[in-house]
Amino acid sequence: MFISVLLTFSVPQAAQATPVGQRLRDLAAKRGLLIGFAPGFGAVNDPVQAPVIAAEANIFTPENNLKWFCIHPQQNVYDWNRNDPYSCSSADADVKFANDHGMIMHGHVLVWHEGLPAWVMSMSLDQLESVMNDHIDTVVGRYNGSNLAIGRVHVWDVVNEAVTCNGSTCGYRDSIWKQAMGVGSDGVPLFIPKAFQRTHAADPNAVLLYNDGALGEGKPHADFVYNEVKKWLAAGVPINGVGFQMHIDTDFNQFAAFSADLQRFGKLGLDVYITELDVMIPPYQNSQRYTQQAAIYKELMKRCLAQTHCKSFQTWGWTDRWTWLNDSTYGGWPGSDPLLFNECFQPKPAYYAVQEALGGSHPATLMLQAEAYNQGQGVQGAPDAEFLYYVTDGAWIQFNNVNLGSGFTTLKTCYAKGSSDPGSVEVHLGSMTGSIIASFNTQDTGGWNNFQEQATPLTGGTGNQTLVVKFIGSATGNFDDFLLESTQSTPGPFTLQAEKYDEQQGVETYPTFIGFVDNGDWIKFNNVNLGNGFGRLRVGYAKGNKTKTRIEVHVGSLTGPKIAELKTTSTGGWNTFKEKTTPIKGGAGVQTLYFVFAGGDGVGNMDYFTFENPRVTASAVNSAAAAETDNTVDDTSEDAESTSAPSYTIYLPAVSR
Ligand code: G3I
Repeated sequence: MFISVLLTFSVPQAAQATPVGQRLRDLAAKRGLLIGFAPGFGAVNDPVQAPVIAAEANIFTPENNLKWFCIHPQQNVYDWNRNDPYSCSSADADVKFANDHGMIMHGHVLVWHEGLPAWVMSMSLDQLESVMNDHIDTVVGRYNGSNLAIGRVHVWDVVNEAVTCNGSTCGYRDSIWKQAMGVGSDGVPLFIPKAFQRTHAADPNAVLLYNDGALGEGKPHADFVYNEVKKWLAAGVPINGVGFQMHIDTDFNQFAAFSADLQRFGKLGLDVYITELDVMIPPYQNSQRYTQQAAIYKELMKRCLAQTHCKSFQTWGWTDRWTWLNDSTYGGWPGSDPLLFNECFQPKPAYYAVQEALGGSHPATLMLQAEAYNQGQGVQGAPDAEFLYYVTDGAWIQFNNVNLGSGFTTLKTCYAKGSSDPGSVEVHLGSMTGSIIASFNTQDTGGWNNFQEQATPLTGGTGNQTLVVKFIGSATGNFDDFLLESTQSTPGPFTLQAEKYDEQQGVETYPTFIGFVDNGDWIKFNNVNLGNGFGRLRVGYAKGNKTKTRIEVHVGSLTGPKIAELKTTSTGGWNTFKEKTTPIKGGAGVQTLYFVFAGGDGVGNMDYFTFENPRVTASAVNSAAAAETDNTVDDTSEDAESTSAPSYTIYLPAVSR
């Protein structure tokens, strides 16, 4: 069995993450939200990680680099430029990276019972208060903005996980900090107000958070923290917000509790930062793995957006390749794929769910997980493993009911292989002997756990299909995800003529327009290429009455998502054609469009429908000057969102969402 063999020779160049549609930080900034992913050590100098983090995040939290064990390894010894290949990299580099890229820098963590070096643990209790004070003064003082060359930390997790519960009985954790500084008459351990006050003194402008797990999850922990935080506020503790960690899994259903917690902490005048979100997929979750995970991310994002004091939405890591949960030593669940990007840095359904919740859109993509197929032969690991392994010659897996829509152009397979023996993969349409729509030879990726992306053309296949993937050669590889994408050209503005529809109901067609359009009538256009989406719809029509009527544009079916609505008003006569525009919200890729006429009789005589302000991807903007000319600024639409080359300016308007 080759899964356990880990080879260490040089590996092929890792693929870059290439999500389609708009970048999360651009979408989030428009909603007044911070979004980010706590990266691990070394991320900001890694050519694979740094561009993704810079493009997608507007808040940065180092997973470990600002913890005591990284920056304060010995008493009175601070190391701002650690370079430990297994745990810590430079805190200064993280702060500089965040500042240089216009991100809010979120420091984690000042006072916690974990993440401490041995010398702190062996201190006598009576020395710990001055040790804590020195640490806060030095670290917060360094990054308080007084030295611009060093940079600024804007938000601090001042105290972390000071509470613990046994069932429904909660109390303050008996940490060394509590033991050292004692407990006040109100029952609050004195290290808490002291840590907040000390931090506030070292940087009066920083946002100060209390960070904890089991908040927003419908557990007694949150009630206890809520009541205690009220006490802290009453005692004048300078706290600005609460961090909800949210290490959850796909069984999570406590959405109402999540909203209620957001609300009650908000009513205390505190902001809420979702600081450490990850959504584990348990081993027994053997179907709909990514779909269910995506739904949870989306629902949490929607609920965060619904409350203005929910300021930040951060995951703990960005790729399933490197997450603390891959190490069971720390209570993790290896293979639980908890984040927005997979092991090959491909954006998962969860990524697109977050993008959609933020109001973005993207061309269709489809991710098939090797371990969640419908039938198979000669493979192991399915359906409950992280990936498919021990694939032998002649093995196959079958995916039923795969909706290929109007077709995809590229297959990006995420696989690992630790041998140079020949192997290949074929994707057949319909059955084992159906036509081959993609094939490739598998290469040595540098180890059986070193997953790499292989991109190959996809030729053929539309609509609902069965796909059979056949493996050839004794050491084909370990397989994770098959990502189907279209390399869509970004179409420029285009016009659909009203009289040239594909199907209709209730309209009359004249040589240059349609007429007698009444409530409930519709026309349908098949195969409309919306590319990455458009910002504005321009309609040429004439109307000679004052009935309140409208044109709705639906995607996919008469009742599919509505991407535009235009109220039709009198143009002064049934032959007086005029133009009117409306924003387009959503819709991308090749689509069926239904123009539905509603509101009463005499909606108008329809001449044409023009799609304007095409959205372009960041890579298209960067590589093609021509794309800029398509990306005209929409001054009337409130939703003409187009990604532009990153300018790295934080733009967080005080919006009411
Ligand atoms: O430095 C050692 C290295 O020498 C050794 O070879 C290696 C073995 O795996 O471990 C290395 O250090 C580990 C470090 O992570 C880097 O991987 C530490 O032992 C380990 O304790 C540390 O774990 C971190 C943990 O906090 C404790 O600090 C995790 O990466 C980090 O994700 C986790 O994050 C916490 C938050 O801070 C607070 N909330 C919960 C969250 C998850 O536990």
